[in-house]
Amino acid sequence: MHLEFPKGFLWGAATAAHQVEGNTHNDWTEWERMNAERLAKEAQKRHNGDASWRFPEAFNPQNYISGRACDHYNRFAEDFDIAKSLGHNAHRFSIEWSRVEPEEGVFDEKAIAHYREVLLALRQRGIEPFVTLWHFTNPSWFAKKGGWERKENIDAFLRYVARVVDRLDGVRYWIVINEPTVYTGAAYIGGLFPPQRKSLFTAFLVLKNLLTAHRRAYALLHRRREERIYVGTSHNLHYFVPYRRWWIPDHLAVAFVTYIADLYQLRIVRRHCDFIGLNYYFRDVIKFVLGGGAYGLADRVNPNQIVSDLGWDMYPRGIYQVLIRLRRYQKPIYITENGVADAYDEKRADFIHEHLQWVHKAIAEGADVRGYFHWSLLDNFEWDKGFWPRFGLVEMDYKTLERKIRPSARVYQRICAMNALPE
Ligand code: BGC
Repeated sequence: MHLEFPKGFLWGAATAAHQVEGNTHNDWTEWERMNAERLAKEAQKRHNGDASWRFPEAFNPQNYISGRACDHYNRFAEDFDIAKSLGHNAHRFSIEWSRVEPEEGVFDEKAIAHYREVLLALRQRGIEPFVTLWHFTNPSWFAKKGGWERKENIDAFLRYVARVVDRLDGVRYWIVINEPTVYTGAAYIGGLFPPQRKSLFTAFLVLKNLLTAHRRAYALLHRRREERIYVGTSHNLHYFVPYRRWWIPDHLAVAFVTYIADLYQLRIVRRHCDFIGLNYYFRDVIKFVLGGGAYGLADRVNPNQIVSDLGWDMYPRGIYQVLIRLRRYQKPIYITENGVADAYDEKRADFIHEHLQWVHKAIAEGADVRGYFHWSLLDNFEWDKGFWPRFGLVEMDYKTLERKIRPSARVYQRICAMNALPE
């Protein structure tokens, strides 16, 4: 029997500006130039201890410079043709703030016109746009004045949001912030993303400011548009499991990290969103370790039996657990990211199929899931890891920029076309 999805379910893929557009000028582009050599050297070290870092591109500093990326800025129409040919009826992309407002208070109408064209191109192909307003990158001027560390800077973000929402007509779905906790953790705790400041206190401020920005943008977007729009934020949520089922401290550690990483942000935005955006990648097995590990009180000890090219523990059932947990918020849910780094396309088709089986089960048990966006449409620039991890339904030849549809994209195409999982 086929597993049918609800009528009107949205099927698509997601991208983010800096990862695909090419030739952006923001805090990341500056950071990449300064850190490419270091990242290439560190990759060599990681390679020795971690078999998943086996890709030779990782040792080349050029891998860490986003440069022209997929040149999606110029080739978006071609890419949307591909999305359409793959049966997608929705697409998530982000607007690059540094293009729209290259200098503080100075807006570039040409950049805004570009995104109007992008929207038009999607609509002409019958693809529903989901527009992300902020996906990890900041204009350099914003970063220089303290970025998200300073509460006063939220006004600058809102000014940009106001400009965009006034100028982009007909967008029904807005995603204000992409993964507040991932950015905070990577940029202010893990030392992985710019500005690589390691301070728990600053991390907390940044997270709070991002969530305030979401709340204020939510009100602003609704104030400025008369038509019915739907506003949410994309949250990276986890399925945390205790390492030892019989050991209470492991359970306490799970409760602690679930609150810090997931529940805190949901508690703050739940009354200020029309839907919840869920990004799900892997589960985390959590062990209580006093004063140590990834979270201060807990360490991640994943079994890593089936892993992606990035060494991420693949665990499709986790998406079900997270969706069941989200039921209590009584909001529509869109899965705004779910995907796998898999250069040889050996695991992606099963990954999609199995995750969707669990999504289907969650829907049958009352989770109001209305769409699924695979990460990603194209191979792209994977932040501090650079280009070697391959997340695309479509493979990118970075030398020729030729796009090649992967076999797993065809498997997903069939699901989109049938609005169901074939047996
Ligand atoms: C981010 C994407 C990223 C993906 C895979 C998410 O955390 O939103 O930008 O490429 O994960 O790592």
